[in-house]
Amino acid sequence: MHISCLLPLTIILGSLSPAVAIPVAEPAVDGIYAQNEDIHYRDSSIVARDGPGFWMESVKHQGISPLGPSGYTVFRNVKDFGAKGDGITDDTKAINDAISSGTRCGKDCFSSTVTPAVVYFPSGSYVISAPLFDYYNTIMIGNPNSLPILKASSGFNGGSLIDADPYFSANPNWPATTVFWRQIRNFVLDTTAVAAGTQISGIHWPTAQATSLQNIVFQLSADKGTEHQGIFCESGSAGFAGDLVFNGGKIGAALGNQQFTMRNLTFNNAVTAISHFWNWGWTYQGININNCQLGIDISTGSSDQQSVGSITLFDSSFTNTPVAIKSARTDSSAPHTAGSIILENVALDNVGTVVQGPNGTILAGSSGSSVIAAWGQGNQYTPTGPSEFVSDIMPATRPAGLLDGSKFYQRSKPQYESLPASSFVSARDGGAKGDGTTDDTAALQSVINNAAGSGKVVYIDAGVYKVTGTLKVPANSKIVGEGYPVIMSSGDFFNNIDAPKPVVQVGQAGEQSQVELSDLILSTQGPQAGAILIEWNIASPSAPGGLWDVHARVGGFAGSQQTTKECAKSTNSADVNKNCIAAYMLMHVTSSASDLYMENCWLWVSDHDVDVQTEADGGQITIYSGRGLNIESTAGNIWLSGTSVEHNSLYQYQFVSTKNVYMGQIQTETAQVPFPRILSTIEKYYQPNPNALTPFTPNPAIHDPDFASTCNGSSGNCALGWGLRVIDSKDLHVYGAGFYSFFNNYDATCSAYGGPQNCQNSIFSIEGQSALSVYNLNVLGSESLVDQDGKSLASYSDNIGVFTNNIAYFSTQ
Ligand SMILES: *[C@@H]1O[C@H](CO)[C@@H](O)[C@H](O)[C@H]1NC(C)=O
Ligand SMILES: *[C@@H]1O[C@H](CO)[C@@H](O)[C@H](O)[C@H]1NC(C)=O
Ligand SMILES: *[C@@H]1O[C@H](CO)[C@@H](O)[C@H](O)[C@H]1NC(C)=O
Repeated sequence: MHISCLLPLTIILGSLSPAVAIPVAEPAVDGIYAQNEDIHYRDSSIVARDGPGFWMESVKHQGISPLGPSGYTVFRNVKDFGAKGDGITDDTKAINDAISSGTRCGKDCFSSTVTPAVVYFPSGSYVISAPLFDYYNTIMIGNPNSLPILKASSGFNGGSLIDADPYFSANPNWPATTVFWRQIRNFVLDTTAVAAGTQISGIHWPTAQATSLQNIVFQLSADKGTEHQGIFCESGSAGFAGDLVFNGGKIGAALGNQQFTMRNLTFNNAVTAISHFWNWGWTYQGININNCQLGIDISTGSSDQQSVGSITLFDSSFTNTPVAIKSARTDSSAPHTAGSIILENVALDNVGTVVQGPNGTILAGSSGSSVIAAWGQGNQYTPTGPSEFVSDIMPATRPAGLLDGSKFYQRSKPQYESLPASSFVSARDGGAKGDGTTDDTAALQSVINNAAGSGKVVYIDAGVYKVTGTLKVPANSKIVGEGYPVIMSSGDFFNNIDAPKPVVQVGQAGEQSQVELSDLILSTQGPQAGAILIEWNIASPSAPGGLWDVHARVGGFAGSQQTTKECAKSTNSADVNKNCIAAYMLMHVTSSASDLYMENCWLWVSDHDVDVQTEADGGQITIYSGRGLNIESTAGNIWLSGTSVEHNSLYQYQFVSTKNVYMGQIQTETAQVPFPRILSTIEKYYQPNPNALTPFTPNPAIHDPDFASTCNGSSGNCALGWGLRVIDSKDLHVYGAGFYSFFNNYDATCSAYGGPQNCQNSIFSIEGQSALSVYNLNVLGSESLVDQDGKSLASYSDNIGVFTNNIAYFSTQ
């Protein structure tokens, strides 16, 4: 996350014409959250339903937050707070009580890791008359077997049914780029009782990494003059959304954010399916747009000041929609690369115009059906360039191992909705304490072993589970967290920088089976210079294994022993506090592993202390982790859908001697620490002070970069962590990437818009015998956008974009 992300929004909002001003009025005061228990609504169209139960409803709830307020309860069933879900009673107060009960992080709170909540909705129709205020670190879950309906009453008072970041003042309650760790899944959001002409949104969702929307139906007015919209997201640094259906509305999804991955979205009968306020890069996979007037509007701004950086759309379709995509780009539009588009495997049926520009049709459609193999507009390097193109391109040669039919394989987070509660075994029932102090290694290991042996799913109750030795996850394991339980390594075993050890080890080399992990945080406590948070060894050739909403978080949270108290920022490169070395590597996919699906995983080295509540120091800390995600799988077949890796010393993503990898919006930040809270006093430090070679010595056994050949001894901004490094790997296909370097030696002018983009020399390195393609590469703060064997292939100055600099199509071939 980073606050500079807010800058382009400011620029953009300043240039919005009245016609495209943010279409939904947001509440300006918190008064709208006042509840009125006496209001009842009678609407015969709402039928409360009882569906088959969901295991989560009936398992025992024993989650705790060890450092949270005393007596704190993580799991809340809204019915326990008086919600009726009968389609009649106004449930607003009851649901808001369920969300806010305990001393949680709401208004006047910056952020918190110690007050997580899971708010559960049994099936039913919940009438609400004002927004549900989604507090920090909240997961809202409905019964997936019969989706609960959140039904806005006809007199609904407020901007959105669920407000994830309310405007109590001129600014959202939390800076959008710091809104982490939340989910909303399994709901119908119904605004149809509200007059069509009233502005209302289903979800207000300005969020950052580790957030997801899943399995939601937006039921919006399709009447003439409708002002309803499904998602309203004006800023942030996210994130993932999938399995969403939008029916009706003026705009299905109104979107502005640095980057996003959206997969499996269907839009029916909207005026405009998707409208972008702004973006840097956006990955759309499996988007189906039916019977809309306009599919995707990226024409915001004007031809000489476009706001939208780029979109990558594939395995998608447009049906009965006169204009699929509207762009502001022309031969002479500005910024130069804004409005970059890549389309691949896009089916059309009765689409008059595929891409419409300000001067007319850019790409014509027809009344019949057809498929676009691959087409784009923007700058290309193959691998020399730039050359500007508005044309068909060669589609990526998709490796068969990554496909399901002709499309890329996709798999949503398993919710195990057909299993009974008896299929789940609780970690706490098995003797693990999760209190952050007890050594839970043996108890957790025995629960995991027993579950794998008896075909059950491990349910890790909310809590902090300290482990002092490697936790081995055997073949066929399925593990799901309540909220985001934290598995936290601690002690000497993990603190030898010369003998790294996995904290969680999935399978052994040579083992084959499917393993599934979801809703977990992996972490470390105190100095852990030898900790590899997760090591994935298992091969899954018959059915991919996976990780969904599994995040790494090292340092910067209460209980980590690496907070502002222990690891306050250091500004002297010689002064590395060894107690603040949090990890050796965040994730290692070893040579024996294969067929791994990862979705919405954020591997984060903290750049600030999330539990600090005073504005005075903003929680600045310096935490060191050597490496981010290292993939060395020989057989490959890896899907990275909506992942990001931030603030590791040597690299964020590294691929070595691997093949067949799909990546859909990968995002990185170099190890630099911002001052996230007060815009006017942005201050920062860390790389190149110290540079990437401190405090970790490159280890040739795991192919660490030593920056010798690439920098040839030069100092300055050369030895900074790579965003992406590829060595001797082939058939890597990147569908959207954002690599960001915000600062250099206390100075943000290096990444400022129109500035020199010299926070670091290079950020993306291709080495040896490698073959890959990248769609919509977006880079901030690096002079070179891509290097091959130490030589820059593309300069930022030839590829100026909206804030990041863009290459629409890059290929080594
Ligand atoms: C797409 O989402 C719908 C629900 O909106 C779901 O039924 C379907 O299985 C999803 N498809 C995939 C490939 O995940
Ligand atoms: C389109 O219009 C702009 C001005 O609006 C002009 O500068 C440009 O050259 C025109 N033609 C094309 C093909 O983009
Ligand atoms: C590295 O730098 C040295 C001295 O500056 C120079 O002689 C040499 O040619 C350089 N090597 C490469 C590969 O650029």
